Amino acid sequence: MSSTRMQYFALFCLALTIVCLTIVMKKWHFGLREDFGDPVLNTDFSLLRRALLQQIRERQQEIAPLYNFTDRSSEIQSDFSNSDALRLDIGCSDLSGLTVVEFLGAGYTKTVSKVVLQQGSEVALKTVNYQGTDMRSCLDDFRDPQGCQDLVSSKIRKEIILLQRLQHPNIVKLKGQCQDSALVGGIIAVLEQGTPVQMIQLLQSPWEERFRVCLGLVRLLHYLSLSPLGSVALLDFQPRQFVMVSGELKLTDLDDAIVAETECRTSSDCVLQFPLRNFTFPCTGSGVCQGLNEMKNLYNAYRYFFIYLLPHQAPTELKHLVDQIMNTTADLKHTVNKTLEAFEEVLEVYKSGLHLQNMPSSLIKDYAVLKGMGTSGNKEYNCWPSYNHEGCMLSVHSAEEAAHICNSHPQCTSFCLNGQKTWTGRLLASFRTGFSHLVPDVSSTVYVRTAKASAATF
Ligand SMILES: Nc1ncnc2c1ncn2[C@@H]1O[C@H](COP(=O)(O)OP(=O)(O)OP(=O)(O)O)[C@@H](O)[C@H]1O
Ligand SMILES: *[C@@H]1O[C@H](CO)[C@@H](O)[C@H](O)[C@H]1NC(C)=O
Ligand SMILES: *[C@@H]1O[C@H](CO)[C@@H](O)[C@H](O)[C@H]1NC(C)=O
Ligand SMILES: *[C@@H]1O[C@H](CO)[C@@H](O)[C@H](O)[C@H]1NC(C)=O
Ligand SMILES: *[C@@H]1O[C@H](CO)[C@@H](O)[C@H](O)[C@H]1NC(C)=O
Repeated sequence: MSSTRMQYFALFCLALTIVCLTIVMKKWHFGLREDFGDPVLNTDFSLLRRALLQQIRERQQEIAPLYNFTDRSSEIQSDFSNSDALRLDIGCSDLSGLTVVEFLGAGYTKTVSKVVLQQGSEVALKTVNYQGTDMRSCLDDFRDPQGCQDLVSSKIRKEIILLQRLQHPNIVKLKGQCQDSALVGGIIAVLEQGTPVQMIQLLQSPWEERFRVCLGLVRLLHYLSLSPLGSVALLDFQPRQFVMVSGELKLTDLDDAIVAETECRTSSDCVLQFPLRNFTFPCTGSGVCQGLNEMKNLYNAYRYFFIYLLPHQAPTELKHLVDQIMNTTADLKHTVNKTLEAFEEVLEVYKSGLHLQNMPSSLIKDYAVLKGMGTSGNKEYNCWPSYNHEGCMLSVHSAEEAAHICNSHPQCTSFCLNGQKTWTGRLLASFRTGFSHLVPDVSSTVYVRTAKASAATF
């Protein structure tokens, strides 16, 4: 979809929200009048009401132990943190002058909008999705807008409490919350803003960026397996539960997380079922399925992310390590701990350039090195997968690796390193067919190919 069409779509969705809100409120008033008028409906209503209250109570009971945790931790925190940190929390009063900029996403339960607060910061607001399946099926069952809002809000409440307890670079940051706002009704979670995970776009990005996503995921799973709440399993584990924030994958949907291991009597109670594979885990003496939660997460990471993102175009010398990760994860042979170790090893080898040991080092001799120079009037060519769209920009360990790449591209006559780096600290090199002038640039070095080196492949 083009960006203008996206904007129209977002506007349409916002308009729809307002229309539906109005309908919901009207229904509510109508419902009240109707129920007081008719004694038969009245009994019906009180039965339904009791059933709904029961559901709300069950949700509250599920969340209660998590609140207990927070109470204790916030006592501890307040001993250490200064009041500044507490004041940074965004509350209802900070939301009063907000401007809705963009619709970011919606699911069964929640709607997320990008807003600008009065003081100028951009955040994502998560609220009840009044058109969502959760809200609609509740209204169908109970015809009680206020009660249904409470019921659906309890999922956001659970998410907020989990976001307070579980803090990790690969979990979206909770910036604040608002309990009772005249703006939307129900509870609002204020989050750092990301962009929805676009699998198609990720598939087209450099291996280094795809590896970053998978590594972040495994670091997250390692944290969840040893979290302050115990071993956390994500029941719903799909790309749409995550967002990207500056190239880093972050979990945003936590309402389907469970924090308790499965109870069991025998190992037959500890079966993980997936469409193509089943796994059985041991039942421990204390009557819980050992490792079930972390393995459920790991296999989901494998089937929704690794398969698509990890093996494809891995650097030749890392292929063996990557294949090993794929093989062991496909059979759940290793714990999350061991899997993380394997990932960190891949990262170390990649960062150190160890995987380039067999590259001929003399290639750089074919290039004139012009330090403190940049180029203008560039003649670009395309390569894949490039960091920029109108040219060929690739990540390299060193000028030697860049020379190696330039030699293997028939269109390449020069390349330029200007100090820009990727998340691993590797250098971004721009490869070119030509340029018209050299211009002084202290942060840049131009390498111009002098001898026509053979385009032999190494
Ligand atoms: N912090 C954020 N920044 C940008 N977009 C976000 C953010 N959080 C969520 N989104 C988008 O909003 C969508 C809905 O959020 P979320 O997954 O929490 O709702 P949900 O109703 O639980 O969804 P589902 O039906 O998938 O369980 C997400 O798929 C994501 O694309
Ligand atoms: C909260 O913690 C206290 C003691 O730490 C415990 O006695 C109480 O049962 C807990 N409440 C819930 C709801 O878990
Ligand atoms: C997994 O277990 C279920 C239930 O026992 C069974 O029906 C299914 O065929 C199994 N799937 C595979 C792939 O083994
Ligand atoms: C992974 O498994 C495949 C097939 O099962 C096998 O051919 C390959 O050698 C294995 N690779 C590693 C690194 O174990
Ligand atoms: C995982 O590794 C950490 C240290 O990084 C260790 O403390 C923990 O006990 C390990 N867990 C398992 C299940 O091996």
